[in-house]
Amino acid sequence: MLTSPHILLLSGSLRTASSNEVVLRTAAAVAPAPLRTVRYDGLAALPHFNPDDDTDPLPASVAELRAAIADATALLICAPEYAGTLPGSFKNLLDWTVGGTEICDKPVAWINAAAPGRGQGAEATLRTVLTYTGATIVEAACRRLTVDRGTLDADGLIGDPDAREQLAETLNLLAAPDHQPPAPPL
Ligand SMILES: Cc1cc2nc3c(=O)[nH]c(=O)nc-3n(C[C@H](O)[C@H](O)[C@H](O)COP(=O)(O)O)c2cc1C
Repeated sequence: MLTSPHILLLSGSLRTASSNEVVLRTAAAVAPAPLRTVRYDGLAALPHFNPDDDTDPLPASVAELRAAIADATALLICAPEYAGTLPGSFKNLLDWTVGGTEICDKPVAWINAAAPGRGQGAEATLRTVLTYTGATIVEAACRRLTVDRGTLDADGLIGDPDAREQLAETLNLLAAPDHQPPAPPL
């Protein structure tokens, strides 16, 4: 468990050569110190959501997801659009957050890495579901950043300085104290 301030990076793609993964790996590389990022990599291990299983003891992978969200200062999501909405696997992840309180008031932003004019269905679903779960959508931190695979650097990261600056800005905005939920009373 990492309890120091950090942004949890969640990819909505399971694809090995994922563009959304490229965006998040680049975000991790440009995170302005002392801000840290942690990659959530448990998407494929989550069971299909079933309310019957949303009880103690939770499936281990679900408990890990909820703990990762609880520990994070904020969440950054990068998810593709499938058939006009989120990939089912990522909607499944979000369904598992509904029965917990970890995501309530948690600052959240997303990066839309789809080609220009595409991906709005995934964004709309993210907005609907995250609003339903009570997350705090940090609008100013949400971005559209198309990944041009021809311009990736030697590490397979986005090399464009403007895009890298936008990702750093997104992380800074997510970590800003004014988006944090109020501290519980003593
Ligand atoms: C099954 C499937 C459905 C898709 N549906 C859409 C869609 O509705 N709208 C869209 O803009 N792109 C759609 N795409 C394209 C993906 O969003 C695009 O390939 C994206 O880059 C995948 O993300 P990834 O590179 O991180 O895996 C679809 C791709 C697949 C495989």
